Amino acid sequence: METKNYFPKNFLWGGAIAANQAEGAFNEDGKGITLSDVTRGGLSKGVSDDKIIEGRYYPYHQAIDFYHKYKEDTKLFGEMGFKIFRTSIAWARIFPKGDESEPNEAGLKYYDNLFDELIKNGMEPMVTISHYETPLYLIDEYGGWENRKLIKFFSKYCEIILKRYKNKVKYWMTFNEINNLHTIPYAAGAIKIKSEATKLQQIYSASHNMFVANAHAVKLCKEIIPDAIMGCMLSLSVVYPATCNPDDVFEAYELRRRSLFYSDVMIRGEYPAYVKRIWDEHNINININIHEGDLELIKKYTSEYLAFSYYRSSLHKAGSPILGNTGGIIGQDNPYLVKTQWGWPIDAKGLRYVCNELYDRYQKPLFIVENGYGGTDEISGDGKIHDNARIDYLNKHIVQINEALHDGCNILGYTWWGPIDIVSAGTGEMRKRYGFIYVDKDNEGKGTLKRIKKDSFEWYKKVIGSNGEVALSIDEK
Ligand code: BG6
Repeated sequence: METKNYFPKNFLWGGAIAANQAEGAFNEDGKGITLSDVTRGGLSKGVSDDKIIEGRYYPYHQAIDFYHKYKEDTKLFGEMGFKIFRTSIAWARIFPKGDESEPNEAGLKYYDNLFDELIKNGMEPMVTISHYETPLYLIDEYGGWENRKLIKFFSKYCEIILKRYKNKVKYWMTFNEINNLHTIPYAAGAIKIKSEATKLQQIYSASHNMFVANAHAVKLCKEIIPDAIMGCMLSLSVVYPATCNPDDVFEAYELRRRSLFYSDVMIRGEYPAYVKRIWDEHNINININIHEGDLELIKKYTSEYLAFSYYRSSLHKAGSPILGNTGGIIGQDNPYLVKTQWGWPIDAKGLRYVCNELYDRYQKPLFIVENGYGGTDEISGDGKIHDNARIDYLNKHIVQINEALHDGCNILGYTWWGPIDIVSAGTGEMRKRYGFIYVDKDNEGKGTLKRIKKDSFEWYKKVIGSNGEVALSIDEK
């Protein structure tokens, strides 16, 4: 039976990166130091120094030098036919320390140039306001998002960038993968966990401050750019129960709700009933953090769409430790799924499941802003990169997005994670490649930085050109 194409004509196909993983130029044009600038070996299990240590290799310092090569790269994205391109603004380019009263003009100018270039090449710029790159000063001096003062600093930063780019950027989101506060709190919330005993108190305090900041961002966006939309962003790779044992089923459900708690607050505009029990059972005193007017603000200014990343699914067994990395929760093996070279189970149907789960829950537009295949690509004897596994992964996920659209989900677009090879957030490596474009650079930082199109480049171009049709024609649900 032929598969019908449910992709709307205005579906936003594209790609996504983050400033810290691509730009490099870590100390150029007045930029301040961020938490990723002092991290070695990745944000999931790497080491973060208190300051930059002379002679040490920090992978994010040069990354792929997108800061200087954005024109060349943007042209390639345009050639693939991207309709949208998601990147983050590095907060420390605009406010080097984070608490200044005046922004850094050179930083603002850089993003002006980048957005102009994207628009020139046929793309809508899409901006993540904070993607694992909080200015280090805000951590050292204020303790990161546990401190309410960050709400003011963040709001100021939002106001400046919303005003500056109001004619260029219509798609915004606040915090990358905010729910990863539970698994990678330093990256997601710029907080250092003091002890196991204080962990949840710290996480929920930071969460509350970020919810208030999120509401401020929505408010500012409505006032400054009425025709733009401000979303929230979560990591929503799915968690299944390991067996049909009701204990596994309920614990997996609770674990899922630990993530959906974030969208429940930011999209529905209020703290859900179930969180009170979590706070009670862990002696968490969130009241100290909730100031007069906070709850009203959160209620009034809810996120206008839900952006999320989806990489894989995992299985949870009741009572087993809950560990996670950038891809989501690390659980038991699923015998029905094969894994990527990096051990991430490939579950395209899980993406359809998540889209339905989220649309059933919120009835708000969804945006798949990250989905991708990390592999160790090699240049073949013919000088080309035959990344068939990536094409296959992409194909299968597009087929399932079409199914989700048919199911009635309102999905605005799809931005592939890492359309060009960048530094991995989780491991800090270049060897974990996601791109349709290869970048000649290795884990030690050696290489010419030359860009080479992989086989997937032409394939994604055809997918976009046919509005998904090419992927559906080799559908094998
Ligand atoms: C997401 C992050 O969690 O996963 C990205 O938003 C990250 O920053 C992506 O790069 C893939 O993870 P990794 O660890 O393979 O780079």
